[in-house]
Amino acid sequence: MSYFHRNECRVCKKGDLTRILSLGEHPPVDNFIEAGKEQEEMRYPLDVYFCNTCSLVQLLDIVEENELFHGEYAYFSSSSKPLVDHFSKYADDLKKRHTLKSDDLLVDIGSNDGVLLQFFTDTCRVLGIEPSANVADIAREKGIETLDGFFTEKMAKDIVEKHGQAKIITANNVFAHIDDLDEIVRGVKVLLSDDGVFVTESHYLLDLIEHMEFDTVYHEHLCYYSVKPLCYLFERFDMEVSAVERVATHGGSIRVFARKKMGKPIESSVAELLSLEEQAGIHSLSRFVDFQKDAEALRDKLVSVVRGFRKEGKKVTAYGAPAKGNTLLNFCGFTGDDIAYVTDTTPYKIGRLTPGSHIPVVSPDILKTETPDHILLLAWNYRDFILDKETELRKRGAQFIIPIPKVEIV
Ligand code: TYD
Ligand code: ZN
Repeated sequence: MSYFHRNECRVCKKGDLTRILSLGEHPPVDNFIEAGKEQEEMRYPLDVYFCNTCSLVQLLDIVEENELFHGEYAYFSSSSKPLVDHFSKYADDLKKRHTLKSDDLLVDIGSNDGVLLQFFTDTCRVLGIEPSANVADIAREKGIETLDGFFTEKMAKDIVEKHGQAKIITANNVFAHIDDLDEIVRGVKVLLSDDGVFVTESHYLLDLIEHMEFDTVYHEHLCYYSVKPLCYLFERFDMEVSAVERVATHGGSIRVFARKKMGKPIESSVAELLSLEEQAGIHSLSRFVDFQKDAEALRDKLVSVVRGFRKEGKKVTAYGAPAKGNTLLNFCGFTGDDIAYVTDTTPYKIGRLTPGSHIPVVSPDILKTETPDHILLLAWNYRDFILDKETELRKRGAQFIIPIPKVEIV
């Protein structure tokens, strides 16, 4: 068995948990498989729970890390241009907020291919931590020192010994992936200087709920944060959330700044977002009672649109093979009969099959010569960028099907 079920909340450790969404059993979304290996694929439950004590929305079925992250891990941040632009702006924002001296240290947990740190190499000392070896190698090729493995308290102690404490620690789109949050926060406390700041960016529960982004649920995403449970978490370690910002990445994210308690004033952004969450109802179970029904309604609509086109003999393909696209394809039960192929720019994914739905992934070059009738936009978070980039394809007659927040044909 390579998964286990947790009986207590990851943040407050209490057991008063209610299931709010069940998507069925899914294979890990980043395990694009080779043709012929379909039978070896494992599936695990994908159910979302609400903590009635601290309001954390989370998965409790934990697929072991070696099933999710491996040498061939698919995600290279720098392969999505909008994401690189995002990190460039993120770096500017951090430099504006915090004056960095050349001997200050910036540590990025889950540094991927160095997508954020590359913007700091002329500013201060940088250190990446990345468990996926082939992704880390790309960062090293850019001259960014990168440690292998997962961040732990022990690793934090080793870093302090060798490099000293960090002025800024960042953890982007990884803080929601961590099962043992206590270990990370203990490590952060060791590594962070007393005047330092810990910055995390994660997809935001309020956007997920308001824009029906249920496809962003997958096994790697263990937590769907709002500000309230994060305040709860840091409080347990005598730390505090000092500021929060909403950012547009991944369909809506929150950037959260946390620090050791030093009696400094807290930015009004924290109280403002907490109050917005309260008004939106996401601190109470009642807000989630229709979540399952709404997700199923969207699924049924999308399935009927795609199969309707197929009945008319139309060719349907998909655009982008993001992790969330696999949740959507599998929840809909789509196969190669519904969707002829998926185009994606990531070299690792090209030539393989999408997990679960087993649809071939091909290079976007095919769209230079072929014009599908309808293209399901799985990378809907890049909607404007892609619709604009594919103006020519659309002029040739291809129509995009946008699945989220509601099924729309453009
Ligand atoms: P992304 O939404 O960044 O991430 P996640 O997997 O966390 O949901 O993934 C976008 C995917 O879409 C990625 O595999 C690259 C691909 N892509 C394209 O093929 N063409 C494009 O123009 C863009 C922007 C992305
Ligand atoms: Zn809790």
